[in-house]
This record gives sequence, C-alpha cells and structure tokens, in this order.
Amino acid sequence: MATPTLEKADMAPEPEAGFADSPYITATFRIRRFNPEVSDEAQWQDFQIEIDPKERVLDALHKIKWETDGTLTFRRSCAHGICGSDAMRINGKNRLACKTLIKDLNPEKPITIEAIKGLTVLKDLVVDMDPFFQAYRDVMPFLITKGNEPTRERLQSPEDRERFDDTTKCILCAACTSSCPVFWNDGQYFGPAAIVNAHRFIFDSRDEGGEQRLEILNDRDGVWRCRTTFNCTDACPRGIEVTKAIQEVKRALITRRF
Ligand code: SF4
Ligand code: FES
Repeated sequence: MATPTLEKADMAPEPEAGFADSPYITATFRIRRFNPEVSDEAQWQDFQIEIDPKERVLDALHKIKWETDGTLTFRRSCAHGICGSDAMRINGKNRLACKTLIKDLNPEKPITIEAIKGLTVLKDLVVDMDPFFQAYRDVMPFLITKGNEPTRERLQSPEDRERFDDTTKCILCAACTSSCPVFWNDGQYFGPAAIVNAHRFIFDSRDEGGEQRLEILNDRDGVWRCRTTFNCTDACPRGIEVTKAIQEVKRALITRRF
C-alpha cells in the first residue's frame, strides 16, 4: 500500500526566520498613561514583557494588566476586529490592538501605545466617545421611508446594493475620525466616520432620507471641512475607501444625484 503523503497545508508551519529557537522575545511597550485622580499630566511608562511576537498588541496589554499593573485601562470586547472598541495609536498610527501583530511593529525598539487623538482622554487609553457617537446619530444612520408599510420585502438589484457595499463595513472604531487633522483642530467637524455612515444610506436605493442627510452634511461642520488628506483611508482597519465615500457625498451635494 502506498504511504500517504502529507499535503503542505496539513503540516505544522515552519518557524519564521529570527524566531526559530524560542518563540518568546523581550519587548518594551511604552504606554501613555493618564489618571486624572493622580495628575493632570499624562506620562509615558515602559513595561518590559516576555511575549511571542506572533501575538497581538491586545495580548500584550492583557499580559501587562493581568500580570504587572491592574490599573492599566483600555477598552476591548470581541478581540477579533468586529466590535471596534480597541482603536488606539500604536507606533504613531491608528490601529486596532486586536488586529496588530507585535512582529509587524519592529519589536526590537519600544512599541508606543497611546489613546486616539481628538477626543478627551478619560483614563490611559480610554477616550470619551460621546462626541463621536453624537455625530453618528446626527446623520440619521437608519432607513427612512415614507408611506404605508410594504406588504413584501423592499427589493433591490445587486447593482444598487453594490453602490454602498463598502460603507456597510464600518465598525465605528473611530480610527478614521481620530486620524483627521481637521477633527484634531476642531472637534465640531462631523468627521469621516459619520460621513461614511451617511453615505451608506444616501446611496441606498430603498432610502428616502438622502436629501435630509445631505442638508445636514452641507453644514459648516459637514463634508466641506474635509481637506482630502487620506489619513482616514489609511487608518481604516476595514479597508473602507473613506476619502472616496466623502468625495461621493460632496459630489451628490453639488449634483443632487445619488
Ligand atoms: S470608516 Fe473605518 S476607521 Fe472609520 S469608524 Fe468605520 S471602520 Fe473605523
Ligand atoms: S476588541 Fe473588538 S475590534 Fe478589537
């Protein structure tokens, strides 16, 4: 009888170069701490931990919190890039801690972690998300229709569904809005995430509230504040073309076609 051969996919993965002997390295996490009950000033604190570089930044934060300093404060829930609660600034860039591998951050150097910018820091890595969610609520992120209830489901062609597919992927993590220099300078700006969620309904063929939403975004704090820096698109962990969505809303405001 022929000896069965293992397919490559069935075999254990080969160790990566540089991590062959032991999976663990000593990495330094430089975290910007803030506790208003202790000081008005934020300060950096270093934590050195042994960790497998194939683990995620969220794993490192858990290790620090559970084994070294239980006062370290951060948000997280799903740990799988779905809930959007653990956006933070890692090595100067907005990312989800649960989707960022330590090995991708040059762990030979200290890895910096701080709260996202433009929103008030409440403690350590936790910011006040109320202004962010207020802007989201202001654009009415729900289907608006007039007249009688339909007697069957509201039909839509695949082409019409495709029109707003990209913006349905938003998980409201705020990585885009808190990477926007306009939002840093003036927190009154609706911000990319609110515009993305307005886009999701403006371009939905079943919705009848597009004009209302466009008028809301025509406000002095609306889409015209966008300076097309693309920070938002670079920051989005869902790969949404945020700047393109904002441009489409601007165009709809000019042409009134959507
Ligand atoms: S558009 Fe992307 S970065 Fe912005 S809130 Fe949604 S998922 Fe996060
Ligand atoms: S913990 Fe839910 S997205 Fe990271």
